Amino acid sequence: MARITLRQLLDHAAEHTYGVPAFNINNMEQGLAILEAARSTDSPVIIQVSRGARAYAGDIMLARIIEALEAMFPAIPICVHQDHGNNVATCLSAIQHGFTSVMMDGSLKEDAKTPANYDYNVAITTEVTRLAHMVGASVEGELGCLGSLETGEGEAEDGHGFEGRLDRSMLLTDPDEATRFVAATGVDALAVAIGTSHGAYKFSRKPTGEVLAMDVIERIHAKLPNTHIVMHGSSSVPESWQAVFNAHGGEMRETYGVPVDEIIRGIRHGVRKINIDTDLRLAAAAEFRRTADTSRAEFDPRKFLKPAMDAMNAVCRERFEAFGSAGQASKIRVIPMSEMARLYAHRR
Ligand code: G3H
Ligand code: 13P
Ligand code: ZN
Repeated sequence: MARITLRQLLDHAAEHTYGVPAFNINNMEQGLAILEAARSTDSPVIIQVSRGARAYAGDIMLARIIEALEAMFPAIPICVHQDHGNNVATCLSAIQHGFTSVMMDGSLKEDAKTPANYDYNVAITTEVTRLAHMVGASVEGELGCLGSLETGEGEAEDGHGFEGRLDRSMLLTDPDEATRFVAATGVDALAVAIGTSHGAYKFSRKPTGEVLAMDVIERIHAKLPNTHIVMHGSSSVPESWQAVFNAHGGEMRETYGVPVDEIIRGIRHGVRKINIDTDLRLAAAAEFRRTADTSRAEFDPRKFLKPAMDAMNAVCRERFEAFGSAGQASKIRVIPMSEMARLYAHRR
């Protein structure tokens, strides 16, 4: 059994200068595709569960799926992470279900729509960190709001994100404020706002530094060299998968994601966790469309799901290789959460 905390995994990634993709999971097929790709590349992995996923599949089902994945892939260190926790209860109930890590996203208020102020963010993130560390679980905080520097808008496509428009100052994490935030809260990892947003529609053209502010990551890393940086909204939305999707009746308008090369640049400057959901959704949906279009008499769901799993597996393998986590799984000796709790208690 190899359930690892985010803290231990990202410490290892920092020591060996690689990044770990954090893939969102809602069901068995995504779990199998991600873990099979991790096994075939000897990569540790973060599987993250949104509140939407918990509502969709249910906590008991998700917990059992994750236990099954752990039993099927015993050599792979798996970090089980709550994505965008909106309050203390969401984070604690995730830990209750076996999660080894939680994100307390205090950049937004509990409704996951209203931007919160700095003091609110510090207070709630500190509280979650205090409680999670008592049982050895890790905490990711977020400073700055995810949203487009092109339009000033958030991405509410998945129900998580601010409404209306924000100015540049709220859409970019301030490096000095980040330094104070990390010291005040004690978080293990920090999600930053650099112009990325969730979903498929991130940029209207191939992003330049004006709209994808990788320089902000460099400035934060210079001030906080020991803090693990998290990039949200980091799907690359590959043109090849857009083409398959659109060739079989899909209607995705022209769009650009975060180029893999920019993520690799981030990894050289402290990025250790890279959140990817849309790329697996797109690859799977493109294959569903292809099957529906080319095998019109087909009605066995497995004939739709198997190619979708293969497509998701291929995307995961590419990211494990590109981010340098491939080949690292067998080098990690997992520290149990109880031992992590002892280490945190020692530090206090
Ligand atoms: O947080 C963003 C992820 O893409 C999760 O989306 O809430 O629709 O599961 P979801
Ligand atoms: P994408 O929508 O770019 O895949 O981002 C997912 C994410 O950040 C989940 O927290
Ligand atoms: Zn996110």
